[in-house]
Amino acid sequence: MSIILGIESSCDETSASICIDGEILSNVIANQAIHHQYGGVVPELASRVHQQNIIPAVHQAIVQAKINKNHIDAVAFTRGPGLLGSLLIGTSFAKSFALANSIPLIEVNHMQAHILAHFIDHPKPTFPFLCLTVSGGHTQIVLVKDYFDMQIVGETLDDAAGEAFDKTAKILNLPYPGGPLIDQHAKTGDPKKYKFPEPQIPELNFSFSGLKTSILYFVRDQLKANPNFLIENMNDVCASVQARIVSILLNKLKKAADLYQIKDVAIAGGVSANSGLREGLIQLAAQKNWNVFIPKFEYCTDNAAMIAIAGYYKYLNKDFVGQDVAPLARMPF
Ligand code: KG4
Ligand code: ZN
Repeated sequence: MSIILGIESSCDETSASICIDGEILSNVIANQAIHHQYGGVVPELASRVHQQNIIPAVHQAIVQAKINKNHIDAVAFTRGPGLLGSLLIGTSFAKSFALANSIPLIEVNHMQAHILAHFIDHPKPTFPFLCLTVSGGHTQIVLVKDYFDMQIVGETLDDAAGEAFDKTAKILNLPYPGGPLIDQHAKTGDPKKYKFPEPQIPELNFSFSGLKTSILYFVRDQLKANPNFLIENMNDVCASVQARIVSILLNKLKKAADLYQIKDVAIAGGVSANSGLREGLIQLAAQKNWNVFIPKFEYCTDNAAMIAIAGYYKYLNKDFVGQDVAPLARMPF
């Protein structure tokens, strides 16, 4: 039997999870409300709040899983990518915990963990599969050949999809983080009312900065003509923007699946919580005869369950790191 403690602290969620033999028994997530008033994550504040939250989060994860902390076999932590000050808190805690309990330490790549979240519940994808990984910092199409054998076959050349949602929300005067709010407004809006451009980017890559600029100019011009434009049309603007972001993502995913002749297709990361993306993927899968894998909401945005499950598969391979390990703000696969 193996009991893994997973720790996630790459951005503004402090999270701890217990995994026993590949089964998640707890997944405690402490969100940081403090950033809302600044319209984005303030790195210095994020690390301070991680420092306050990490021990209570770990304690609660152990209590909820009803295990004895002395029975934990290994501690897995996010080494990167992420905010360095935030990663340092999780890394330092994990190192201290491993040292104090004489147990192995397992480093996890946050973006790989988003993908491995698909191995928490059933049905699990079979290798090889494609995963569209869309978060606040990354937008990637990944060819997943094995648990830790992954190849990025397409990625954004500028903004990430989550950033496109968050920056649009800012233009629309919606609070941070804007993605879930745009999703909410879009539910009752007309996605065909406004047409935003689809960038022509070669191969399987993405670009979202042009879309952001076109939304900025569009809203500015509309407000000049009608100062109440946003009040009157918020839902239609959100639905139209969301429809464009989703079509950009799904068109590239379709291209990748055709190119690699793959029928098992997954989405992961914070933006995979978006209802337009989830519905669009289900429709596309029906047309293309794909098997699709869409994570539960709690495993879309940042969480330690995905770190613990990735840690479990590394534990099986005895893939451990030493006490000299340091976090990485940028971390390739
Ligand atoms: O994976 P994640 O929690 O953190 C990073 O690793 O970046 O992703 C956060 C991103 C944010 O940009 C947030 O606005 C976006 O995911 N997001 C959404 C939704 N829920 C979270 N975007 C659109 N619709 C949603 N429902
Ligand atoms: Zn993430």
